Amino acid sequence: MVVCRGPHCRERGALPLRKRLVELLRDKPDARLVGYACFGQCDFGPNVAFYPEGAWYGGLVAGSDAERVVKHATTGEAFGQAPLSLPEPERTEHLQNIAELVRTLERDRARPRRWWWPF
Ligand code: FES
Repeated sequence: MVVCRGPHCRERGALPLRKRLVELLRDKPDARLVGYACFGQCDFGPNVAFYPEGAWYGGLVAGSDAERVVKHATTGEAFGQAPLSLPEPERTEHLQNIAELVRTLERDRARPRRWWWPF
């Protein structure tokens, strides 16, 4: 799942949502949480996208929606909310960016750690 880290979503509660998702995902190694700069759907934030599904949901709240987000990502259970409809060119571009981000993160995770940064 991809959580927007942009300023508008942060103003509307994306950080508590992200923290709650991190807590809920501790014992779910098959699901990953990725941050994203901005989906361009700022008026509807906090926004979360599911990848590779390619569905965006907005107006999510840490207390009431985080468990639903994790359940949808890990079991495929219906999300129970209409997805945001992004214009197709934007949707395609974001999905390509997310795919690249995921490839980069997986490549970094697979790489052996050869150095240690103390800070
Ligand atoms: S800041 Fe979240 S979609 Fe733009």
